[in-house]
Amino acid sequence: MTVLITGAAGFFGSWIIRELLDMGERVVLLDIKKDYSRIDEVVPEARSLPFIEGDITAEGVVENAIEKHGVDRIIHLAALQIPACRKDPITGAMINVIGTLRVFEAAKKHKDKIRIVVYASSIAALSPPEHYKVKPIPEDVPLRPVTHYGAFKVCNELCANVYWHEEGIPSATFRPYVVYGFGRDVGATADITRAVKAAVADVPFRIKFGGVVDIQYIRDIAYLFITAAMRELKGARVYNVRGAIMHVADIIRLIEELFPNIRGKLSYDPTPLALATDLDDSAAERDLGPLRKTDPRDGFLETASFFEKLKREGRLDVSDLK
Ligand SMILES: NC(=O)c1ccc[n+]([C@@H]2O[C@H](COP(=O)([O-])OP(=O)(O)OC[C@H]3O[C@@H](n4cnc5c(N)ncnc54)[C@H](O)[C@@H]3O)[C@@H](O)[C@H]2O)c1
Repeated sequence: MTVLITGAAGFFGSWIIRELLDMGERVVLLDIKKDYSRIDEVVPEARSLPFIEGDITAEGVVENAIEKHGVDRIIHLAALQIPACRKDPITGAMINVIGTLRVFEAAKKHKDKIRIVVYASSIAALSPPEHYKVKPIPEDVPLRPVTHYGAFKVCNELCANVYWHEEGIPSATFRPYVVYGFGRDVGATADITRAVKAAVADVPFRIKFGGVVDIQYIRDIAYLFITAAMRELKGARVYNVRGAIMHVADIIRLIEELFPNIRGKLSYDPTPLALATDLDDSAAERDLGPLRKTDPRDGFLETASFFEKLKREGRLDVSDLK
């Protein structure tokens, strides 16, 4: 496989590169800025890979990458997160919607080469939790998101369906929730990763949300995207994702158990996120299984190991914990 990753310098991108390189696959990186800050920690060997510094919303950027590097699969991750889309919905739509259309248009132009487009949707594509009476929640429920970001993700799912029906371009997407792990430093739900960092740094930290959430380790998410890119799936697949469903109070208790030094220094705002939990991921299990489900205990310890290394080297930045 030769996989083009858009948003490659981001959190998902760094880990997906790492897993792909472990498997011996060829990887081409595309991001709006040549930022190696996450890549250097997660997968330093990626420094030698081709890196296209380009804006996915610009005409020709994705197409040129496909042509120049013999790309046969695309993992499309480039996007702005909830707060950035709320602040500037026009730019949000440009990147999250038009950018995704650019990716599909490039795939259309190179239909003979591109086997599948795998792209990121989100739990935010769903309606708020009170709208769903049947649990666990299947994929084909009504979608009435309450954020621009969520609405853009719904739009992408619908457009992917059009590209399958009109152009025969296969695609697969996932709807992750709170993904945590080293490198998760952007977006509304990055506070779970920050709480682990706070434990390593031994500084008090308040998580800005409460209630029950579904926490998913980044390696498990990388596995999903890569497996979907490898399998010869047909159609415009949409998959729910399910990790460990936990109350924020229990997440704090677990972090305190793993790092007793932080006892009493972590707190949370009890206001829950307006995001549905308890999703049915049996379709992903059927098509892509057996799925990886890292125990949060192991996920937190591995995440902490990265922060511990930075701390030992005097490079742990705690400015985001204030
Ligand atoms: N992190 C989560 O918990 C989570 C949950 C659900 C869905 N998602 C989705 O997964 C995907 C990856 O998320 P992430 O956490 O890695 O995000 P991230 O913010 O860490 O990475 C996104 C990357 O996209 C790049 N980018 C932004 N605009 C671009 C443009 N115009 N052209 C090229 N590159 C551009 C950024 O520079 C950044 O490196 C996103 O689509 C996100 O919406 C993430």
